[in-house]
Amino acid sequence: MTDQTFPWRIGSRRAKIVAIGAAALLAGGVAISPAAFGDAPPAKFPAAEIHKPSPMPDRIMLTPTTTPSTSQRVTWRAQAPAEWARAEILEAPRALGDVAPPSGAVTRLSALSSTPVNTSLGYASTYHTVEFTDLKPNTRYTYRVGDGTNWSEWIDFTTAASNFEPFSFIYYGDAQNYIDSAVPRVFRQAFADRPQAKAIVNAGDLIDNANSEEQWGQWYKAGSFIDGQINNISVPGNHEYSGGLSQFWRPQFPYPDNGPGNAELKQTVYYVDYQGVRFIALDSNYQSNSTLMAAQTAWLESVLKDNPNKWTVVTFHHPVYSTTGTRNNPNVRNQWGPLFEKYGVDLVLQGHDHSYGRGNVTTARKTAAVHNSTVYAVSVSGGKMYALNNGQNWTGNGAEVTSTSQNTQLYQLIDVEQDTLRFEARYANGEHHDGFLIRKNDAGERTVNELRTAENTVGEHVAVDKTTVAVKGEVTVSAFGYDPGEKVAVQLRKAGDGRNVAGKDEIFIANLKADELGRISYVLTVPATAKADNTYEVFLSSVNQKITSPILTLTK
Ligand SMILES: [Fe+2]
Repeated sequence: MTDQTFPWRIGSRRAKIVAIGAAALLAGGVAISPAAFGDAPPAKFPAAEIHKPSPMPDRIMLTPTTTPSTSQRVTWRAQAPAEWARAEILEAPRALGDVAPPSGAVTRLSALSSTPVNTSLGYASTYHTVEFTDLKPNTRYTYRVGDGTNWSEWIDFTTAASNFEPFSFIYYGDAQNYIDSAVPRVFRQAFADRPQAKAIVNAGDLIDNANSEEQWGQWYKAGSFIDGQINNISVPGNHEYSGGLSQFWRPQFPYPDNGPGNAELKQTVYYVDYQGVRFIALDSNYQSNSTLMAAQTAWLESVLKDNPNKWTVVTFHHPVYSTTGTRNNPNVRNQWGPLFEKYGVDLVLQGHDHSYGRGNVTTARKTAAVHNSTVYAVSVSGGKMYALNNGQNWTGNGAEVTSTSQNTQLYQLIDVEQDTLRFEARYANGEHHDGFLIRKNDAGERTVNELRTAENTVGEHVAVDKTTVAVKGEVTVSAFGYDPGEKVAVQLRKAGDGRNVAGKDEIFIANLKADELGRISYVLTVPATAKADNTYEVFLSSVNQKITSPILTLTK
């Protein structure tokens, strides 16, 4: 080998130049040795200084109301007397600064509430809430909050449309740990990927210690400006409880008061209808409290039964099917699971297990790449990791886990369309991990399709109702995974060496079109030209798939 192959080897001309450069840098390092700053390393800057409140608003957060097309809540923190806490809002102008809003364009209003939270750092953090009302649907607004003298920056948000409109939202599992170091890059990458997202769902354990002012401060800092412009839909995990619900929760997250009515569940159990999606938030921390579980279960059924939205997303902390250790949440699974299936819930978004798992009930499976049940997802956004178990909590309870991951920080992007809901999990560095596409028709029928890959669009994915059939007899053929309306050619062809290869023993049967859910179902009559005592297969050929059935034995 020559130095051209390894130019960094000592002796090469380039290596010498690099070495000289490095020596110069080292010499520079000596010149600014630690002694230049004094003998002691810098002291840790105290949390009480980092997170202390001031009259300047921070921790600005959008939370949805029951009417997100015409109203919007905003909370923030500031050292401001309640009587001075206020907000201003106007329809988003083309410019501000030198350009003053037209007279009468700005609406000013006082805070609905101001709640001091005594913190562990020796000061009170006061949270203020305003509610903007009489807004126009699907309209971009600009607002700021403050005390009339000390204002936040102007921040834009868009009200929900009054009817269905496509939109995206983001879902996170537990942030909880390393909130000031490893979490921010996840939140920011998710925002970079879906800057127009309309909601962020947090499935509990946002922080590690329920009443830690320092951790809440870190959590808000991680989301920085993002939370001021995208609605937040959070549920508490076990770490938001410490001798009761975190004292921060209700002042920060004034969610709709439309839950079961129990005082303990106020603003932790609620629902929000947003542009054709019903988001349902549950509190699984009470899974061992029979009264509060029964109240939630009855309420859950009522909001599932009477649901005008095409899509339904449920979130809570403790998974129906656990991905790690010997964890098990039988009350959650047994009391809520059947309702999710009965009422066709599309997504169940959970946390707690510090790993990733995605699956469904086993009986719903149609082919290797398609099923038609509720999708259960567990994820983690923070840096604390648990090892995966072998899936026994899924398989032991009638479910299967399709995709898993451990030691990975993830965020999930969900794109809602009229007839599809696309889910993708990505790692902290933005790379793809997992995904699927739900198709649903107006009758509520559904297919859940794996994202297409080179592997799952070839091979044996065609189902037949029998594998022995007489010439001129009938066999029912079905397949999934197409685009709606995709053209599919049906052929019967000799099995054996020619499998998956076109040849002279092919018999053309029909041209079909996939239905709106990407399905094919066809009663195939074996033509007289096929030969008895031979083996055949059904071959379905389309733009997106080249798939075959199990081998058919033809009889006379
Ligand atoms: Fe947890």
